[in-house]
Amino acid sequence: MNNSYFIRTFGCQMNDHDSETMAGLLENMGYCEADKPEGADVIIINTCSVRENAHNSFFGVLGQYKKLKEKNKALVIGVAGCMMQQDILVKQVKTKYPFVDFIFGTYNIHELPDLVQESKLLKKTNVRVLPERESIQEGLPVKRKYPFRALVDITYGCNNFCSYCIVPYTRGREVSRGPEDILSEVRNAVKSGTKEVMLLGQNVNSYEYGFSKLLGNLSQVEGLKRIRFMTSHPKDMTEDLIKAFSKYHNLSKHLHLPLQSGSDNVLSRMNRGYTKGKYLQLIKDIRREVPDIGIRTDIITGFPGESEEDFQETLNFVEEVQFDSAFTFIYSKREGTPAAACEDQVEESVKHERFQRLVKVVNESALSKNLSYIGKVEEVIIEGVSRKSNEYLEGRTDSFKLVNFKGPMEALGETVLVKITEANTFSLKGTLDL
Ligand code: 5AD
Ligand code: SF4
Repeated sequence: MNNSYFIRTFGCQMNDHDSETMAGLLENMGYCEADKPEGADVIIINTCSVRENAHNSFFGVLGQYKKLKEKNKALVIGVAGCMMQQDILVKQVKTKYPFVDFIFGTYNIHELPDLVQESKLLKKTNVRVLPERESIQEGLPVKRKYPFRALVDITYGCNNFCSYCIVPYTRGREVSRGPEDILSEVRNAVKSGTKEVMLLGQNVNSYEYGFSKLLGNLSQVEGLKRIRFMTSHPKDMTEDLIKAFSKYHNLSKHLHLPLQSGSDNVLSRMNRGYTKGKYLQLIKDIRREVPDIGIRTDIITGFPGESEEDFQETLNFVEEVQFDSAFTFIYSKREGTPAAACEDQVEESVKHERFQRLVKVVNESALSKNLSYIGKVEEVIIEGVSRKSNEYLEGRTDSFKLVNFKGPMEALGETVLVKITEANTFSLKGTLDL
């Protein structure tokens, strides 16, 4: 049997995609994917530093893998990702977890094959962490997790420095991939079965060569059914982009537009670069142009100095906008960011209590949005067997709603019409409309 690898990924879709590249590199070396860490020959942990819970889970997982290494001395363990861009954490892993064979940063992914080879010869933890990106590595192999959905990077890094966020420090300054490189990756993916691309960047709207133009070029790729993108920054949304939704037939009617807070005072201290008035105007403009668009957001509760009044403003704003869904987060102090140094940190219990109240309001609007789908016939791309029940398939509407329905198992990646019959907070249910 071939040697096998297992990759444990924390964090966002950028990390998911980096893991797909790591998988591609390992497969090129002759490794095949294991479905669990036990018994694998190489284990990579791709870390995330955006909030403390991912940080803590990483150390928990590392403890588990230590036991595997004790049983199997030949096991190779590597640690990658955003946490490893922080010197203090590299030191911590080296000293407290010396069984780790190698550490590599977010700009060193292409070096994975060398690191695996060298681990067989070296006795101590091998560290390859560049402090900043030297160049964009094109042409690396990718093993896609979902053959019908390709994650495609368009920018790397972030220049926005929101005051709570660690990303600009772990992913560096923003750089854009050339449009030709993106187009050829997408064309190749479509040739091998991709129906949908998800364009990735911390702020896709600031894509150097023109984001709307890129969408226009991608929309012409034959066989490409859907184009999605994330994340958009409200301060950089252009009219061009709003118009693009009705202009390009295969641009999905779905937008991820992080709000973060509904209080101008908090938004300003977060360094977000917009007011709630500007955000609301954007939502109105977008819905006027594309009435059935699905809008998703991110919101943080308990940012330093957030008062009960500030939080109330967020609640009222969320009720007013009626998002289709929202990722809600409890503010997490990230050392090295300006907000971590603020003296007016909100008490844990208050942050949690606000979080619960926010989730309730968010869920109410998600349910009411979903209920409005009942009776509609939606185009759904089949993604697989439902995670909840193997009697059902699951897929997504163009507006990114999860739909469960009964249908033929062999049709993965295909587009079908589904009549929506039931709605819950997080998903829809329907029947094939034949
Ligand atoms: N604490 C809580 N949430 C955070 N996010 C980023 N940094 C933090 C933090 N320190 C959230 C933001 C962002 C999403 C990806 O993660 O809402 O949009
Ligand atoms: Fe972080 Fe703000 Fe950049 Fe998003 S835009 S990655 S929240 S700094």
